[in-house]
Amino acid sequence: MVETFTFGRFYNQRPELKRLIPAFISSYRTLFAILWIIGFGSLFMWQRDNVDRFWIFKTVQEHPFPVLRPFLFNLTDFGGKGDGTTLNTKAFERGVAAIAKLRKKGGGQLNVPAGYWLTAPFNLTSHMTLFLSEGAVILAVQDEKYWPLMPPLPSYGYGRERPGPRYCSLIHGQNLKDVDITGHNGTIDGQGQTWWTKHRQKVLNYTRGPLLQIMWSSDIRISNITLRDSPFWNIHPYDCKNISITNVTILAPLFGAPNTDGIDPDSCENMVIEDCYISVGDDGIAIKSGWDQYGIAYGQPSTNILVRNLVVQSMVSAGISIGSEMSGGISNVRVENVIVWNSRRGMRIKTAPGRGGYIRHITYENVTFDNVRVGIVIKTNYNEHADDGYDRKAFPILGNISFIGIHGQGVRVPVRLHGSDDIPLRNLTFRDMSVGTTYKKKHIFQCAFVQGRVIGTIFPAPCDNLDLYNEQEQLVKRSSSQNITDIDYDF
Ligand SMILES: *[C@@H]1O[C@H](CO)[C@@H](O)[C@H](O)[C@H]1NC(C)=O
Ligand SMILES: *[C@@H]1O[C@H](CO)[C@@H](O)[C@H](O)[C@H]1NC(C)=O
Ligand SMILES: *[C@@H]1O[C@H](CO)[C@@H](O)[C@H](O)[C@H]1NC(C)=O
Ligand SMILES: *[C@@H]1O[C@H](CO)[C@@H](O)[C@H](O)[C@H]1NC(C)=O
Ligand SMILES: *[C@@H]1O[C@H](CO)[C@@H](O)[C@H](O)[C@H]1NC(C)=O
Ligand SMILES: *[C@@H]1O[C@H](CO)[C@@H](O)[C@H](O)[C@H]1NC(C)=O
Ligand SMILES: *[C@@H]1O[C@H](CO)[C@@H](O)[C@H](O)[C@H]1NC(C)=O
Ligand SMILES: *[C@@H]1O[C@H](CO)[C@@H](O)[C@H](O)[C@H]1NC(C)=O
Ligand SMILES: *[C@@H]1O[C@H](CO)[C@@H](O)[C@H](O)[C@H]1NC(C)=O
Ligand SMILES: *[C@@H]1O[C@H](CO)[C@@H](O)[C@H](O)[C@H]1NC(C)=O
Ligand SMILES: *[C@@H]1O[C@H](CO)[C@@H](O)[C@H](O)[C@H]1NC(C)=O
Repeated sequence: MVETFTFGRFYNQRPELKRLIPAFISSYRTLFAILWIIGFGSLFMWQRDNVDRFWIFKTVQEHPFPVLRPFLFNLTDFGGKGDGTTLNTKAFERGVAAIAKLRKKGGGQLNVPAGYWLTAPFNLTSHMTLFLSEGAVILAVQDEKYWPLMPPLPSYGYGRERPGPRYCSLIHGQNLKDVDITGHNGTIDGQGQTWWTKHRQKVLNYTRGPLLQIMWSSDIRISNITLRDSPFWNIHPYDCKNISITNVTILAPLFGAPNTDGIDPDSCENMVIEDCYISVGDDGIAIKSGWDQYGIAYGQPSTNILVRNLVVQSMVSAGISIGSEMSGGISNVRVENVIVWNSRRGMRIKTAPGRGGYIRHITYENVTFDNVRVGIVIKTNYNEHADDGYDRKAFPILGNISFIGIHGQGVRVPVRLHGSDDIPLRNLTFRDMSVGTTYKKKHIFQCAFVQGRVIGTIFPAPCDNLDLYNEQEQLVKRSSSQNITDIDYDF
């Protein structure tokens, strides 16, 4: 830029030539000097960086562990070895037991230093912080004989994939209060590859375990860490209250990593999920509340859930899902500032006859789709059941769902709202929507058994099932064809 500018002046303003030559030379020199400084400076920085890295490796931690609890422990205090091959289950258990003794004194923090810490599943305790340093990797042992079995979740009746018990999670907790799992972006690595292969080969006799499962607990905070390659779902808070998940990265292959959902809040109340990057082999987020007759009997809803500032990728399922297990009911969910890219579906609600329960008071606001096959989808015939004992007449109630500020590009089918005579979709609202499409002009806003309204103009043009309102929210045209069906799964 500087150079072009100088030359331009040099050629165009001849009279000033004399005065400009020294200026040109001097600015050329200046430029040269600047380039020299940048060039050698970066070389110097690069070298220093390398020296530093070498140094860190040899002697000091890059960041000291912050002090978050009155008592601090190092995993190595309990005989841990971060060599990637020694089994550290006992070290983790001893660390947790030491902290359990301090619960009346404010609890303790277990620091996991840089290294590869192989372990079998272990349990957490209340008033504890598990802190994963930069470069710390907790590695899940792959052989399933190290994974204890647990009873099925009461609201599922089943292991989920298989009847009977299920494998426990790598990091597990139940009936806890006040737990932090945090760090300087250390990693929990489920090494799920063997599990996915065995699942495909159908040689597993029990349901695979999640990476992190916390049950019947409150005040749980998960932040500043990375989870990858879970055998099954990544984070599964079950019947918990007051949970926050902040600034977490969740990774799994986009294909061939079955059921590696990112975060599945299940019968949870008061939960925030924010500032996360999720790219996985199933749903990025799936909000649930139990399955068919078991979920109805357990009767614990998911409610007051805020999901914001997320970037999600899911080639097999959807960015943000609600259901399909929702028999305890799901309400007061707000999804905002979310980008879903290179995915099969964006926002998805799925349920089926037999589920019972409800999905209501759901708001999506400021959602962006980038190269997504189906943007918004509601499906009411997701017929996957625990067993044959479900009530054919237990129809879920769906309604009061708003989509505001929905944008994007490269979407094949922006909207597919598939209600039915038994499960009609009531009081849906669309406002401020513009989604660029890739494929056809017809059948790109598909509806069946939908009642609701569009406020203002939206793109693509809505189906005839919806009432039209102007920007001032005055009725322009009431629909007379709410139950018309225009659903086409062929593209
Ligand atoms: C933890 O222990 C390891 C090995 O003894 C040591 O290198 C590391 O500095 C310790 N970290 C802290 C924070 O004490
Ligand atoms: C964790 O605690 C639960 C409940 O007490 C127990 O069933 C489970 O076996 C424990 N898991 C491990 C790995 O010790
Ligand atoms: C997110 O976590 C990383 C490390 O995991 C940290 O460097 C960064 O400051 C965190 N961001 C926020 C907003 O907390
Ligand atoms: C944390 O680590 C993951 C995996 O290495 C990386 O993708 C992510 O960008 C890191 N997050 C931050 C905030 O540094
Ligand atoms: C599953 O059960 C069968 C029959 O009991 C047994 O032979 C097999 O080893 C089991 N597989 C696993 C992975 O536990
Ligand atoms: C995440 O890490 C950043 C940077 O170290 C820190 O400021 C922030 O408090 C951490 N967030 C949580 C929720 O622990
Ligand atoms: C959840 O947090 C709220 C507000 O901080 C508090 O009033 C409530 O007691 C907490 N609930 C539980 C079960 O910890
Ligand atoms: C909408 O979401 C995007 C992506 O998360 C974010 O960058 C932007 O600031 C949000 N806009 C508003 C008005 O909140
Ligand atoms: C929608 O909300 C209104 C007002 O709160 C309520 O009366 C109605 O039952 C709700 N409908 C559904 C389907 O949840
Ligand atoms: C429809 O939904 C809107 C927003 O979700 C709500 O304000 C309104 O009360 C609902 N109306 C009915 C009749 O349920
Ligand atoms: C559409 O179907 C629903 C559910 O079956 C029914 O309640 C409603 O009256 C029907 N609406 C019209 C306009 O026929």
